Order: sequence, then structure tokens, then C-alpha cells
Amino acid sequence: MGKIDKNNPLKSLEHWEDDILQRYPDPDTQEKEKEAFRDYQNSERIDTVRAFYKLNHQYQNYDFVIKKEQEFLRFDKKEMSLWEAVDFLNTLIDDSDPDIDLDQLQHLLQTSEAIRADGHPDWFVLTGFLHDVGKVLCLFGEPQWAVVGDTFPVGCQFSDKIVYPEFFETNTDSSDDRYNHKYGIYEKNCGLNNVKMSWGHDEYLYQIMKDYLPEPALYMIRYHSFYAQHRENAYDHLMSEHDHKMFEWVKKFNPYDLYSKAPVPPDAKTLKPYYQDLVAKYLPEKLKF
Ligand SMILES: [Fe+2]
Ligand SMILES: [Fe+2]
Repeated sequence: MGKIDKNNPLKSLEHWEDDILQRYPDPDTQEKEKEAFRDYQNSERIDTVRAFYKLNHQYQNYDFVIKKEQEFLRFDKKEMSLWEAVDFLNTLIDDSDPDIDLDQLQHLLQTSEAIRADGHPDWFVLTGFLHDVGKVLCLFGEPQWAVVGDTFPVGCQFSDKIVYPEFFETNTDSSDDRYNHKYGIYEKNCGLNNVKMSWGHDEYLYQIMKDYLPEPALYMIRYHSFYAQHRENAYDHLMSEHDHKMFEWVKKFNPYDLYSKAPVPPDAKTLKPYYQDLVAKYLPEKLKF
């Protein structure tokens, strides 16, 4: 067993997503495959995922989110085309994990190719292709717990439908009277646009893309890790009617993100011209990160 970095307990960023698969298994997967996967999810991995969520739930409080917004929404870190950003993201090599057979580009292409195969509009395909590019935050030195993991609202009570809710005990917002009741600083059904979410790759990429993609795409990007809502409906009391409509898209997107591992990995080289055209159709040459 390798040494575990206390601040970055996951040996691979993907272990977080593997854990989501445990919580929300593919309904179409055969029982046998599920059993095999359970073996694969060994106890060391469960420990590292727990350690990851312990940090995430302790430190993702309202003040932290404000601080990260001030730091990253100035977009003064790097200017890149989407291609350069994907290449950059692909330099994120996980600590010598023999189980990880897919790089970041492969996950993006598998997601987008599954969306394309189902005949969805091109902006939906593009959304699949870029939805995790916000993970470049890791390459700007951010710890795992501030990049990935389930997201949730801050500024109001943490729902017990969020994974490992007991870890919120050490979050200072839990004992802060401004935040530790149902609505906290928010109004009933005020709409998610008025609600601050825990900081990570979802919100970051949303802020980069918000002028370029149709609204359903932006919802998919911004809330794809908000499992407490799109799977558990734990925050209906903050959602507007419009949010509910848009979450139909978030729900449509989620299986492509989670269950699109194709038996044959997509051939990036062959697919590149199609994606180059698609990216050029919607995005400017350079994006500010
Ligand atoms: Fe993601
Ligand atoms: Fe993803």
C-alpha cells in the first residue's frame, strides 16, 4: 500500500467517481459485473474516499467558497484554447495507480461519443466533451477536495442526503447561526442561481463557459456533481420552477458521465476533426482560466 498524501488522499481523482458508481450503479449493468466491481472497490479505496470527503466536508464552507471565487474568477491564471486545456488536463497523471486505464481525454470522449451516438444536439455532445475541463484546478495547485467530489449548497444547512453527512460536524458553518438552519441566508425557492455551491470543477467551468453555451448545457456543467439534488431531491426548497425544468437536462446528462465506459476506447486521433469543428462553432479561440 502506497503512502497516502494527507491533503490529497485519493490515489487517483477517478476514485471519487468510482465511489459514485458504487452509490448509483448502472441499472443496465448485469449483476455479475456489479459483483466484480465490488471486489475491485477494495477497502483501501474506501478509506481514501472517506478521508477525501472528511476534508471536503470540513473545509468547504461559505467563506472558503467566497475566497476561491475571488481567487479564480479573475481568470488570470492561464489563457488556453479548449484543445490546449484538454491537453493540459491530460498531463494530470495519477499517482502510479495500475487500475487506472483511462486518461482524462478518454473519459471526456467516451462521455461525448455516447451522447453523440444517441443523436442528441451538437451542443450536448460538446458539453460531454468539455464537462470536466474545470479539473485543471488541480494543475493550479488546488487540493483534490477543492476540485472534485459531490457538490452542495453552502450558506444553509447541509442535507443528510449528502454523502458522509456526519463529516459536516467539523465544518464551522454547522455551528454558525447564520447558516445552520434550513434556508440559512436564502429565501424559500429563491432559485439556484442565488445559491452558492461548494467550490470545484463544476462551478469553475460554468463561469468560464457561461457566455458561450445554451442554458441546458450550462446547467449540466454547473450541477453535474450535485448528486444530493439530481439524485436525492434534497434541496427542492431552494429550487425555482425553472431550475426543476433545467434539471431534467442535468439528469439526462448524468448517465453519460457515469456509465459510458465503452468496451473499445474512442480513437482520439480519428475523432479530432469532428471535435475541432464543434469547438470552433461554439467557443472563441482562446479561453481565460
Ligand atoms: Fe465532473
Ligand atoms: Fe465526468
